[in-house]
Amino acid sequence: MNPYGNIVLLTGASSGIGNATAKLLAKEGFSVYGLSRRGQGRTEFTDGGFLQMLAADLTDEGSVNAAVSHVLDIEKRIDILINCAGNGVCGPVEECSPKDALLQLDVNYLGIIRMLNAVLPGMRERQKGLIINIGSVGGIFAIPFQSLYSSSKFAVEALTECLRIELLPYGVRAALIEPGDIKTGFTGSRVYAKRAQNSSYGDKFAAAIAQMEHDETHGMDPIEVAKVIYSVIKRKNPPVRVVVGFTYKLLVFLKRVLPSRLIEKILTLMYPNSKAGIEKK
Ligand SMILES: NC(=O)c1ccc[n+]([C@@H]2O[C@H](COP(=O)([O-])OP(=O)(O)OC[C@H]3O[C@@H](n4cnc5c(N)ncnc54)[C@H](OP(=O)(O)O)[C@@H]3O)[C@@H](O)[C@H]2O)c1
Repeated sequence: MNPYGNIVLLTGASSGIGNATAKLLAKEGFSVYGLSRRGQGRTEFTDGGFLQMLAADLTDEGSVNAAVSHVLDIEKRIDILINCAGNGVCGPVEECSPKDALLQLDVNYLGIIRMLNAVLPGMRERQKGLIINIGSVGGIFAIPFQSLYSSSKFAVEALTECLRIELLPYGVRAALIEPGDIKTGFTGSRVYAKRAQNSSYGDKFAAAIAQMEHDETHGMDPIEVAKVIYSVIKRKNPPVRVVVGFTYKLLVFLKRVLPSRLIEKILTLMYPNSKAGIEKK
């Protein structure tokens, strides 16, 4: 049993971290409604759990509202909302247009706001509920050539910290999960900012992307994040944030204690300025 109830609405349930979490929770007996653009079908699990996929595009308020209303019509309430859907738009800052920035924020940040607008009134009225937002270690460290992605995840940090304080008197809790590199569909879905497709930053940009892709494709299994999410669901007073993975916990600790200039040096070394730099590693 957990302190919130067993009706879960989870975005990004068709792939990666969201899919692993949806399946883990359904196996544990939760009624899981999973949203994604290509969402369809239903899988029953033992102990009465199920994963019901629903098609919804988080960039479309009408689509989000229709999906949430559908779940409320059936279940009358949503106990736990997990905002997991996301993607990455990359490119040097100079080559990222406002349109590219909007594209990034539309899913990773505004998508969460659309979900919260639709789900929070019911939770606040019932004085019970849990919001879990999937941030990223990239929301703690600004990752070069992923400025739009990092900005969107920094924004999710602020949003969640505010949510926690605003919702506390209403019995609704919120927490951030901050994964490091995870092997998922995220790498294949990465979008290049339009002008970065023929970037003036040449080798430097290519090297940074190659490093990111290497780290992601050699990253942890998404089930490790799912287990952390489940552990947070069991807690009456969830922590503000949980970093996933020992190495990333250590890096986040270092960010807190080391001077910013030193952190900048470490990041510069992590993302070498040429392909040759990667080959030497
Ligand atoms: N992989 C990593 O290394 C990593 C690290 C830290 C944080 N994260 C975060 O973890 C979360 C999950 O990512 P993942 O790694 O599991 O990636 P993934 O395998 O690519 O999954 C992304 C999910 O988001 C959904 N999605 C994307 N755009 C959507 C939209 N407009 N409307 C509705 N659903 C949409 C996708 O479903 P459809 O395509 O069917 O719509 C898919 O289910 C993201 O927030 C990501 O930023 C990932």
